[in-house]
Amino acid sequence: MIRSKIVATGAGIPDQVITNDDLAKIMDTSDEWITQRTGIKQRHISSGENLSVLATRAARQILERAGMDARDLELIIMATCTADYGTPCLACMVQKEIGADRAVAFDVTAACSGFLFATSVADKFLRTGVYKNALVVGGEMISKIVDWTDRSTCVLFGDGAAGVLLQTTEEEEGIMVEELGSKGDMYEVLTDGYTPAANAFNDVPPLDKMDFVHMDGRAVFKFATKKIVESVNRVLDQAGLTPEDIKYFIPHQANARIIDVAVSKLKIPKEKFYVNIERYANTSSASIPTALNEMNEMGMLQKGDKIVLCGFGGGLSWGTILITW
Ligand code: UT7
Repeated sequence: MIRSKIVATGAGIPDQVITNDDLAKIMDTSDEWITQRTGIKQRHISSGENLSVLATRAARQILERAGMDARDLELIIMATCTADYGTPCLACMVQKEIGADRAVAFDVTAACSGFLFATSVADKFLRTGVYKNALVVGGEMISKIVDWTDRSTCVLFGDGAAGVLLQTTEEEEGIMVEELGSKGDMYEVLTDGYTPAANAFNDVPPLDKMDFVHMDGRAVFKFATKKIVESVNRVLDQAGLTPEDIKYFIPHQANARIIDVAVSKLKIPKEKFYVNIERYANTSSASIPTALNEMNEMGMLQKGDKIVLCGFGGGLSWGTILITW
């Protein structure tokens, strides 16, 4: 049976660090409020480079670590909802920058669940033998789509890109079990970038300013804590595993309190959950691969380890993937 496995990880994070105190200088907020409600202490915010620059940096690092020539890449999938352009997709821009001229490149949009959805899509191409390798990067520049006068959203997010190289394997390893889910009837809970159907033949007015991120934080909080627990339990059941068998859980880093609730409901020791939200804030589709890359860089992941990636976000959407490293 053909499976896909992660053979390298990498990231492209902007250099500029903005602390909670920096934010308190430009809006009515405080380090105390942000830390207590979210666990966030700082975030990386672009000082001008657009998302394609970060995603290209991540892609180059991944390929270098894998010792792979970009011309041998067969598939590039970027998970994002903040690409530089509406079209072309981010993946095509990265393809050009890295010189992966034989690859097929496209984007997947599933907000904060995006990396899990994109990984799942790549996994299907590899399992069915269509391609033998795939670069999957989750990248987001939320700083350009939040209203910097809306303290209830802008303090929560950060910019970044990170991802993996997947390759086929015939061993019992790699992506083992997954669950993806969508709940479109709750789409209005988390939105951004609405564009009206204005054109020259109707009187629908165009927007006079950009439509920024709108979020019912409490509704997302409730949804996330419920879905993480249900989905992780279902995936473990399907794999015939218990939480004791899992070395690490890597949750989407949206709010440390969401992770705390999940820890207590799942009755899993907190040390098994990797948390780095204090340094990056919520980087949406980049959050899970950024955590995975950090753990990989620190040598925390050993062959055979069972790891659970779990995320949720706009759509609303969620996903859980069980990996044997
Ligand atoms: O990746 C998926 C996307 N998002 C999420 O997962 C977010 C999930 N939700 C959350 O993380 C939390 O709901 C938030 C962190 C967004 C908000 O926490 P909360 O405990 O639900 O606070 P709240 O929205 O109920 O606001 C409480 C108070 C309000 O003041 P009043 O009405 O009680 O006087 C807000 O105006 O906190 C105020 N507030 C702030 N105060 C200082 C809101 N934002 C801020 C701020 N600084 N940045």
